[in-house]
Amino acid sequence: MIYVNNNNEFHLTTANTSYIIKVLESNHLSHLYYGRKIRNRDDFSNLYHNYVTPVGNETNYSKKHEHYSLNTTTLELSTYGKSDYREPSLHIEFSDNSRVSDFLFHSYNIYEGKKDIEGLPHTFQNEDTVTSLEIKLYDQVMDVYVLLQYSVFYDRDVITRSIKIINGESGRIKIVKAMSLNIDFDNCDYDLITLEGKWIREKHIQKQRLNKGVYYINSKKFTSSSDLNPFMCLSETDTTEDYGSCYGFSLLYSGNHQGLAEVSPHNQTRVQMGINPFDFSWLLDKKEEFQTPEVIMTYSNNGIGGMSRNFHDVINHNLIPVRWQFRKRPLLANSWEAAYFDFNEKKLLRLAKTAKELGMELFVLDDGWFKGRNDDTTSLGDWVEDRKKLPNGLEGLSNKINEMGLGFGLWVEPEMISQESDLYKRHPSWAIKLENREPSFGRNQLMLDMSNPNVINYLYKQLSSVFRRGKVKYVKWDMNRCVTDVYSSYLPKHRQKELAHRYMLGLYDLLNRLKTDFEDILFESCASGGNRYDLGMLYYMPQTWASDNTDPGERMNIQYGSSLIYPLSTLGAHVGSNPSHQVLRQNSIESRFNVACFGLLGYELNLNNLSNFEKKAIKKQVEFYKKHRKLLQYGTFYRIKSPFETNYAIWMVVSKDKEEAIVGYYQKLQESNKSLETIKLKGLEEQYMYHLESRAQFMNIERFGELINDYVPFNVKTNGVRGIIHKTVSDNYMYKNDVQKVDEYGDSLMYAGLKPLQQFNGAGFGDQVRYIGDFGSRIYYLKKVEVMEE
Ligand code: DGJ
Repeated sequence: MIYVNNNNEFHLTTANTSYIIKVLESNHLSHLYYGRKIRNRDDFSNLYHNYVTPVGNETNYSKKHEHYSLNTTTLELSTYGKSDYREPSLHIEFSDNSRVSDFLFHSYNIYEGKKDIEGLPHTFQNEDTVTSLEIKLYDQVMDVYVLLQYSVFYDRDVITRSIKIINGESGRIKIVKAMSLNIDFDNCDYDLITLEGKWIREKHIQKQRLNKGVYYINSKKFTSSSDLNPFMCLSETDTTEDYGSCYGFSLLYSGNHQGLAEVSPHNQTRVQMGINPFDFSWLLDKKEEFQTPEVIMTYSNNGIGGMSRNFHDVINHNLIPVRWQFRKRPLLANSWEAAYFDFNEKKLLRLAKTAKELGMELFVLDDGWFKGRNDDTTSLGDWVEDRKKLPNGLEGLSNKINEMGLGFGLWVEPEMISQESDLYKRHPSWAIKLENREPSFGRNQLMLDMSNPNVINYLYKQLSSVFRRGKVKYVKWDMNRCVTDVYSSYLPKHRQKELAHRYMLGLYDLLNRLKTDFEDILFESCASGGNRYDLGMLYYMPQTWASDNTDPGERMNIQYGSSLIYPLSTLGAHVGSNPSHQVLRQNSIESRFNVACFGLLGYELNLNNLSNFEKKAIKKQVEFYKKHRKLLQYGTFYRIKSPFETNYAIWMVVSKDKEEAIVGYYQKLQESNKSLETIKLKGLEEQYMYHLESRAQFMNIERFGELINDYVPFNVKTNGVRGIIHKTVSDNYMYKNDVQKVDEYGDSLMYAGLKPLQQFNGAGFGDQVRYIGDFGSRIYYLKKVEVMEE
């Protein structure tokens, strides 16, 4: 709902939030308020706060508006050169070499629904209430318009914003900075929460107090990157996971981005998000337009958890392709950690056969299937099968896999080119590189120039043919290096600074065409894991491979951090090998599953090397996952304990009707003589009586070492080393862990808390003791039970 007061105040309201903008006497657009909903009224002038006497050496905007400086005004769009000295959100160079602009209110337009943003990922209306507001600003001197575009997603507590720059008749202009969002808060009592990371260590939460100065997140890598995800949360300093105010901002973009938080000398806080202005410019001829990507913003007064749930909601309903919304995602087996490059058809079919026996639904052939690709030094760009490995081609392999009752999925890395490839021999100029420099390499490969339409057309043709030949049901779209030697042989010299953005436009165009033509293919994006886990990619591909790290101890951090913004329905999570290929840590098969099942489950390990114990455990896991898949992929997510602050990660999902829930409990290191614990559950219905039961999971009795004879009903000689009997027994004997059963009301489970069984303390054994250990875990399932009224 959008109210307009006296043609100069705009009150954008969602179910629980208000966003208020005012046209000032000077005709600048001022930001008055964003936060918890306040009632509408005819006049919000009381919220406008500025100095009325001279403020020291602050500059006056104009003689007419005495003592009025833009430097102390909270603005919706900011420029340089007319008394605002903070970071401008829009900066343009004009043909007369001047760089000063001043955009004043011109007109506005309100309409129901939301227009598509052509060529860029965007949110959309989907059987919910969306109203849009466009405010047009005009710089009369330079004859340039700016359209501020807002859409209000009433039920989601979300507002989106982007801007469009429209050149008039005066001449060519050069945009050097065009941020999608500028919002000025009238105070600075905030913490800034961001997601930092790197390869196999993505989405770690960091929090800092905002102080005077400018703090940036950004990427210059041609990918949104795992270094600093395009997400920022501004939380009031007393806000917690469940209580208090916070704002979340995220850019729908997958390339070079920038976000900033600036606290000014006057204690105002400016937040901006958009395309990274570094090494960027865009030329606009007369009458041409430039559209920026969209920002999603949300406010919650239910703490950080509330903000996350708003993001999850809008992503699930208004961003990912409608076809995949709330659709069961397949349980898959992936060949990468199982075989790497070392496979042939026979080996793949053996893996697929075991996958089928264990209950999986889709077999994904990862890297290594195309001509000459036996390691990562060659062949990217040549999207034809390697007949030595696959004598019957993709078609033959896929048919056999389909006959087993499994879908067939395939890995591709289309944006890349190997120097050793037929494609490179034919089109060396299609690679991003400079003529006069030896290019730098990432994973031995170069990037294709996605700004070149010939590249896009080639990829479209090749990929379409591969997808059809292989009757492909799922595609893993990888991207394994970041840009260097930034230069396009396709673009004219004076447009080279457009390359980073044109790369994204080319990629989005390709994805759009493939998404439209192959709507039955489930696309999962990947960039060495989570190097491009962003809202832009999710618009085309509804899920992302969150990290190459499958170690559960590391994954609980990565998945916990990812959940700040990304819902479980978008998060690819696999059970990997033991020890973990990334950190060489030993992990039980149960802990690997217990973490991976909160997301889109897959198994990525050599299924033909599993012990009987592991196979039996996996069958039970698969059964559990299939039974509770809807809840684990689409349930409402609550975080209970943070691995960034405690020795645990604890989280849970609750069904929409609150009749079911699943809790995940993960411990980092075992403490000796561990004290009793209480876990306060969340999101349940107070009056419902729930039956809680821990998932039946198994422990390899090998973990007991010499103590094995205190636990099992037969005698095993260990001799200090693992003897043959010990091995045979531990590989086959399914020692069932503790099973806890509790019948309790929702209010009690949430406010008094669940009292989990005591942990092993070195003295007593039994089925009422939890043997958790280092990186051990449990899962608890809750179901509403009917209570007979007395
Ligand atoms: C990086 C991905 O993240 C991995 O999962 C795997 O697909 C490899 N690339 C293959 O080269």
